[in-house]
Amino acid sequence: MKISKLIGYQVLDSRGRPTVAASISLSDGTSHTARVPSGASTGKHEAKELRDLGGQYVEKFYAGLSVKQAVENINQVIAPRLVEELVDLVAIDNHLIELDPSPDHAKLGANATLAVSLATSIAAAHSQNRSLARYFQPESYLKIPMPMVNILSGGAHANKVMDIQDLLIVPIGATSFTQALSWIVAIRETASELGKQAGFVSNLIADEGGLAIPFDSVSKACEFVISAIEKCGLIAGEQVSLALDVASTQFFEDGKYNLKNAKQSYSSDQFVTYINNLVSNYPIVSIEDPFAEDDWLTWQKFMQVAPKKLQVLGDDLLTTNLARLNRAIEEKSANSILIKANQNGLVSSTLNVLKQARANNFNTVVSARSGENEDSWLADLATGWAAGQIKVGSTHGSERNSKWNRLLELEVIENTKFINPFN
Ligand code: PGA
Ligand code: ZN
Repeated sequence: MKISKLIGYQVLDSRGRPTVAASISLSDGTSHTARVPSGASTGKHEAKELRDLGGQYVEKFYAGLSVKQAVENINQVIAPRLVEELVDLVAIDNHLIELDPSPDHAKLGANATLAVSLATSIAAAHSQNRSLARYFQPESYLKIPMPMVNILSGGAHANKVMDIQDLLIVPIGATSFTQALSWIVAIRETASELGKQAGFVSNLIADEGGLAIPFDSVSKACEFVISAIEKCGLIAGEQVSLALDVASTQFFEDGKYNLKNAKQSYSSDQFVTYINNLVSNYPIVSIEDPFAEDDWLTWQKFMQVAPKKLQVLGDDLLTTNLARLNRAIEEKSANSILIKANQNGLVSSTLNVLKQARANNFNTVVSARSGENEDSWLADLATGWAAGQIKVGSTHGSERNSKWNRLLELEVIENTKFINPFN
């Protein structure tokens, strides 16, 4: 089937900021749309998201954050090249690379290239009469990913009420995704109640739908979440484990890890000990970005002392970038990778990063961003790619729940398996 029309336009994300949408019409008269997410605690090495920021396209009422130039690039540069082409993901991604050979997609904007690449995948799946998950994996059972779900938020997503960005739970003892989600919702709502009882008046909802409760120490936050797990009649560490996204690049200044709420400052070596104590004292199965995005040596040192089973997860460190992943494999800096399509800029090369990670025994966690939208393609990518895990934020906000709901749907309509990746 051929592409008959491609249109880019500006829509809103879950933070009320503009983002890019692309709609592809096919020769059978159908049209297929994708909208791109956007981060707040972005890594320096991510693909370049184009925002108008004072340039010729800037719109007065969006605080410089409009994406009109990226939209223009779709309509004026990309569309003329793709109309009348066959709807084939790899071929279309190759056209996008030829139009903008820069590795970070800075010329067209990674928000422009990703919108087109995603819309192409959705349209290509339709042209084969398949769902997006089945487009990537037509045969055999589908592996539904283990969710890693935000309960407490801090850092850039919650006005820095905690030093770390996310305290999450992983329902390792659940036997289906449907059961896993019911546990998570119970724990999330119990945590909200406990927060209110402890006198946190507003229980402010953070960018990813988690609770922005101020904790001046990570230990206290872990104990709080464990008490919510136990109050639900579940066993912490056996049925439900903890995970942290430290997002430490955000508080790494002049070679020091500065925990402002805890009023502590650590050298890299001291922070290795601090993190290792945390993972030894609490049932933590996964730790994301414990060290800053360019503090490679410290990652390596930590891997040498960390518990063997601990998932040491690179987000800002690896930015879904093949060269950075290869360095981490070579230097044994981490053992797991967060996969975010908009850090990379194209669907096919995001998948290549995931495949390279898997070939080197890295765990893979497909992830949303803090700025999201109603699309659910992420759930299909995580499932169709057999990623093993997915991270979407919390269970409040339809931009989060559209992904969870799609996984619930896949579990009932498809032949699926739900496997604990931490066994
Ligand atoms: P971001 O946060 O989307 O704001 O970058 C998500 C994360 O750090 O995992
Ligand atoms: Zn992160």
